[in-house]
Amino acid sequence: MSKNSVRAGIVGSGFAARFHVEALRKVYGIQVEIAGVYSPTAGNCSKFAMETGLKPYPSLAALVEQSDVVHVCTPPSSHEKIGVEVLGQNKYVVIEKPFTGYFGGGEKDFSGDRFNRRTGLEQAARSVRNLLKAETESAGQICYAENWVYAPGVQKEKEIIEKSGAQIIWMHGEESHSGSHSPFYGIWSFSGGGSIMGKAVHPLGAVLYLKQVEGMASQGRPIRPATVSARVHAVTRSERFRNLGFIKSGYTDIEDFGSMHIVFEDGMFADVFASELVLGGVHNWIEITANNHRTIVNINPNDSMKSFNPRGAQFDDIYVVEKIETKEGWSNISPNEDWYTGYQSEIQDFYRCASSGAVPQSGSTLAADTILTVYSAYCSAADGGRETSIPVLK
Ligand SMILES: NC(=O)c1ccc[n+]([C@@H]2O[C@H](COP(=O)([O-])OP(=O)(O)OC[C@H]3O[C@@H](n4cnc5c(N)ncnc54)[C@H](O)[C@@H]3O)[C@@H](O)[C@H]2O)c1
Repeated sequence: MSKNSVRAGIVGSGFAARFHVEALRKVYGIQVEIAGVYSPTAGNCSKFAMETGLKPYPSLAALVEQSDVVHVCTPPSSHEKIGVEVLGQNKYVVIEKPFTGYFGGGEKDFSGDRFNRRTGLEQAARSVRNLLKAETESAGQICYAENWVYAPGVQKEKEIIEKSGAQIIWMHGEESHSGSHSPFYGIWSFSGGGSIMGKAVHPLGAVLYLKQVEGMASQGRPIRPATVSARVHAVTRSERFRNLGFIKSGYTDIEDFGSMHIVFEDGMFADVFASELVLGGVHNWIEITANNHRTIVNINPNDSMKSFNPRGAQFDDIYVVEKIETKEGWSNISPNEDWYTGYQSEIQDFYRCASSGAVPQSGSTLAADTILTVYSAYCSAADGGRETSIPVLK
């Protein structure tokens, strides 16, 4: 495909759908027409359509027909089905994180606390394989919406690795905040897991991506993750947790803390952790220790802008930064949050690819490796943190 005008379709009408629409409206150099939105609850769909000025569609099939690129902004349990359908129509599909996973077999009494983690890994791998097969057979491509890949600091680190010939020895990174807003998040059968699945996938995506970059620069092929050791905790569901109301609780059957130690094919390693337990706004950062440099990327908070507000109410109508609990006192304001988080550059790259046929920086290999690492991590955690091999599919 090589064209300068690309039609976008949005599936879902929640939080992610909104920031995809905003980013689409800022794409430059390629003409993007948003065909419209489909969301299964008709009322939500028309409300979202009205608020964003988009056309509501009555079915996914009708939206896909009118789109060149379809954005899957829906709970993880629906990503495989929608992705396969879109690719089957030879269209591009932008799939939000997490790519796909294991959501139980549909049984009424399914619980994320009880299922066999090996089954989870096998079924998640099956789901990944279905999406990769659909992509291989399609004229379209998978664009994996891992915005950390496109965060300006991560892209600058890519340049440093490529131009300086660096070998990454150790990376560590985190995504945490004080709890997710989505009603689907705390229920394994929709989300496919807790902090590891919903949050750690971001820093995990970044560390896997940077080892891919290093491998491509040094040997012409990505350096893949080989093993993982992991621990998980469900703090807010513990009877011993003293809930003072600052940290969100009420999750049904997911973990709210997870840590992973990943060893790569070349023996180098990364530590990634994530939680729903951290106050002070979103805590997103990654540190890279290489054989020739060291880099710290603060996605959020960062200190590009600091503001002191003696009375919280003065900032009632002012957006400060994601998930900050108070606007009183000092705040690290994010003056262009979508740029720092990578949302804007991510959508720009996907439309560059959809118009030219190029391969996205964040594509299906990264998506597959992320999910295989996540479900291998759940196996490890069930084994008390034992080192566990990560399967390779592609
Ligand atoms: N990259 C990021 O920083 C980021 C941030 C938030 C959410 N996300 C991801 O975006 C996705 C959506 O999350 P959200 O926060 O927007 O959730 P949300 O609950 O706000 O919205 C989900 C939307 O999907 C719709 N939906 C549910 N089941 C569906 C189905 N089977 N088919 C079609 N639509 C369906 C719902 O009606 C709703 O409109 C998730 O995968 C989430 O992890 C990514």
